[in-house]
Amino acid sequence: KMYDEQFRPQLHFSPKEKWMNDPNGMVYYKGEYHLFYQYYPHDTVWGPMHWGHAISKDLIHWEELPVALYPDELGQIFSGSAVIDQQNTSGLKTTDEDVMVAIFTHHGEDHEKQSIAYSNDKGRTWTKYKGNPVIDNPGLKDFRDPKVFWHEDSQKWIMSLACGDHIQFYASPNLLEWDYLSEFGRDYGNHGGVWECPDLIQLAVEGTNETKWVLIVSVNPGGPNGGSAVQYFVGDFNGTTFTCLDDMNRVKWADYGRDFYAAVSWSHSTEPIWIGWMNNWQYANTVPTHPGRGAMSIPRKLYLRKKNENLVLVQVPIDLKSLQKNTHLATATLPIKPDQPFQMQLHDSQVMIEAKLEKIAGSSFAFTLKGEHERIEMVFDREKREFSIDRTNSGQLSFSEHFSTVDIMPIETVEDFMIILDRTSIEVFFNQGEHVMTELIFPTERAFTLELEAINGEVHLSDMLICSLESIWK
Ligand code: FRU
Repeated sequence: KMYDEQFRPQLHFSPKEKWMNDPNGMVYYKGEYHLFYQYYPHDTVWGPMHWGHAISKDLIHWEELPVALYPDELGQIFSGSAVIDQQNTSGLKTTDEDVMVAIFTHHGEDHEKQSIAYSNDKGRTWTKYKGNPVIDNPGLKDFRDPKVFWHEDSQKWIMSLACGDHIQFYASPNLLEWDYLSEFGRDYGNHGGVWECPDLIQLAVEGTNETKWVLIVSVNPGGPNGGSAVQYFVGDFNGTTFTCLDDMNRVKWADYGRDFYAAVSWSHSTEPIWIGWMNNWQYANTVPTHPGRGAMSIPRKLYLRKKNENLVLVQVPIDLKSLQKNTHLATATLPIKPDQPFQMQLHDSQVMIEAKLEKIAGSSFAFTLKGEHERIEMVFDREKREFSIDRTNSGQLSFSEHFSTVDIMPIETVEDFMIILDRTSIEVFFNQGEHVMTELIFPTERAFTLELEAINGEVHLSDMLICSLESIWK
């Protein structure tokens, strides 16, 4: 059976075969969510980059389409974005369809520059622009990953670009001619590695009519638990400059797990939604999957929440209800006493687990997935105020010395949780998406028992939902 290999994600997009990294060019047009991605169609390790392509009507089920962009004499096709040029500012429209324009990095030998390609048939076929590159290299080694959006207030296209240790902004009336605007970030955030894949998005502040601008920046390495990870900055954007409202020395991580990278948002979707590459550059090239390597996260809706005087990013996974089967629902309060763990046999490799924590009296609360020999242990430690995922016994580990780890996320309290479990991943969302961790696992066993355990005091759960989910490939 297709798409049913031992380590094939059943809820997450992965190409049929070969290598995939960053999500690229996500754009919504006429009922279709487009997902392009860094793709090497000839091997299962990173190689000369193409843009692979898939589409979805619901962000759950995906159909893979032919490769959209091939490397050429200007170089490989590195990461970038896509927009719908509704007003035909570029003059590249040739049919009744709006023209879809991809803006990407041409990566030549040590020479990165920005180019465009366009499609007049809903993203099915692509033509590279004759005047490429549209932004040549100004003398920077790292100069890539253009993310473009239409800025209403200044009636211009705005591009964010990753430039090693900072982000540069450019503006254009037509996607063809670009002017440098400003830069941000040399003295902000985490600089443990090179900055990549920026995204500047306007997000609603929960419970208000306010919006704020959020600058997303991936960094590799430098992540909170090692390797690659995504940070963000909250601020204002006036059409020229991004001003950060956060404390200069404060690093805000979007996801504390090891496996969420290069995440950016969809263009022209009605709500802000993003997706990340569920992997870490530390071991991406050796994960034990076959016949491909690389999967995306579950798409997540984005907004901001006020916490004290601080604005934090909230991520809520898109609704997976349509996939639910074998639902176990318990609305009544479930007390879990120390030494009497709640146990439930999980029958599928893809499961959603949700509950509210009404009370937690003890020192910690453990969620364990127990196989015969393998186990994944997750613990919320109230005293240390942290949540950890221990994958040192989670199955296959030997493909990288960096994989077998206990990864940690600071968290003060847990009000509720949602866990999305798939054949090779765990995504945990606490407090309605305020604290998120995404981790890969490669268990060789299929049958797991979910165990919820209260340590040194009772835990009361309510509104519990545990359900198996249908495979998205059916
Ligand atoms: C991020 C990244 C990008 C680059 C692409 C190359 O993972 O390094 O900066 O455009 O991957 O595949």
